[in-house]
Amino acid sequence: MRLPVLVARRLPPSAMARLGERFEVTVWEGDHPMPRERLLDEVAGKAALVALLTDVVDDELLEAAGPGLVVVANYAVGVDNVDLGGCSRRGVLVTNTPDVLTDATADLAWALLMAAARRVAEGDRFLRTGVEWTWGPEMMLGRDVAGATLGIVGLGRIGRAVARRGRGFGMRVLATGRPGRGDDGGGVAEMVPLERLLAESDFVSLHVNLTPETRHLMSADRLALMRPDAVLVNTARGPVVDEAALADALDGGRLFAAGLDVFEAEPRVHPRLLSNPKVVLTPHLGSATVGAREAMGRLVADNVVAALEGAVPPNLVNPGALARRRPAG
Ligand code: DGY
Repeated sequence: MRLPVLVARRLPPSAMARLGERFEVTVWEGDHPMPRERLLDEVAGKAALVALLTDVVDDELLEAAGPGLVVVANYAVGVDNVDLGGCSRRGVLVTNTPDVLTDATADLAWALLMAAARRVAEGDRFLRTGVEWTWGPEMMLGRDVAGATLGIVGLGRIGRAVARRGRGFGMRVLATGRPGRGDDGGGVAEMVPLERLLAESDFVSLHVNLTPETRHLMSADRLALMRPDAVLVNTARGPVVDEAALADALDGGRLFAAGLDVFEAEPRVHPRLLSNPKVVLTPHLGSATVGAREAMGRLVADNVVAALEGAVPPNLVNPGALARRRPAG
């Protein structure tokens, strides 16, 4: 009997093919996330759920799935949409897709940093109005990037990749890490307290996971520590920034600009960020390259296959679940 697997949104063809060869796959073909009620119906009796960051995996979903659910394979490196404790208690394995999207996300952080610093999106919009213009000594002045100070909040895999790129621009790189995680700067950054990083950096790029501790890490008080000519970049998770406070800081001229790929109430974007020309916006595109998304699909398939064959999945994020893991089938 082929084990039933629910894929909450179509993945790249190679991943779909690999899963389809071995399992009875149900896939949601919509361009938007599967409606919650439908997800709760479809997950019932499945051995594996391939979830996206838009699918909330909580007690309700785990109950709806029933005792046959062996693994939740998240098609993302972040797992803030998954109740890890609830999964571990039930012996449900949870996996993610680390490493393969690191460079793509670091590149996008840099694209936003450069675009915000040099007013690229603003200049593009300006020209498209068809307005008459000539070169001017004071026209659309931006911030210098080369030789500036770059602050990395969260020196994990992606933070390090952003830091390495900063070294290529001759930047001084400061970073914060997770206490007790051995984050020592790895030769790419000087580790400093967050308050000092915010006060000294020309560019601040956020790379922390979303947890209760990091929700609104960039509060009004912390934003106020940043230099008025600084740029904030967020490719991590939207709720790490208090968006209303960020809009206040930008509107009040207390920050130069921001580059944002993620939003507090995604997919909604705060209206005052939408209307501020100094904000460069992308719709959660961090891992959106052909190569990264295909590689993420391969990892998801590897994780599902391993979990349903009784092996330890390569990207298990809740090893505590192994002691209670459920047999497949
Ligand atoms: C992730 O992987 O967590 C990103 O936000 C989507 O690729």
